[in-house]
Amino acid sequence: MALIKWTTELSVNISSIDEQHKILINMINEFYEKISEKSNNELISNLITKMKDYTILHFSVEEKLFEQYNYADFEQHKKQHDGFIKKVSDLEERFNKGEIILSFEITKFLKDWLINHIQGTDKKYTKFFIEKGIS
Ligand code: FEO
Repeated sequence: MALIKWTTELSVNISSIDEQHKILINMINEFYEKISEKSNNELISNLITKMKDYTILHFSVEEKLFEQYNYADFEQHKKQHDGFIKKVSDLEERFNKGEIILSFEITKFLKDWLINHIQGTDKKYTKFFIEKGIS
């Protein structure tokens, strides 16, 4: 069973960004599935890297729009992005060094962070971006 199900409650009403959020959600679900199945470390490590890389790409898409349109909350929003990338990079490094065992708690952290970020922070730009004609 998937850990996160995308619903309209997670929509920022900008379809290009919703599509990226759906990809991130699918990645967390896949990560959860592989951990539950106790898949081998190499596969899990590749998944963490894939998830980190896609997250960086997604954040850069939002940040480019913030810069382009002078979004007032840019700095505050970027701080959250940077903090999350740091956490995921740290997780990747520690897992690859054998220092941590991935668990449901870690998956829950990724899930909670993403949901809270979309609902509490990303949604704040909806009105602003729609007014700028972004869809
Ligand atoms: Fe969709 Fe600010 O991340």
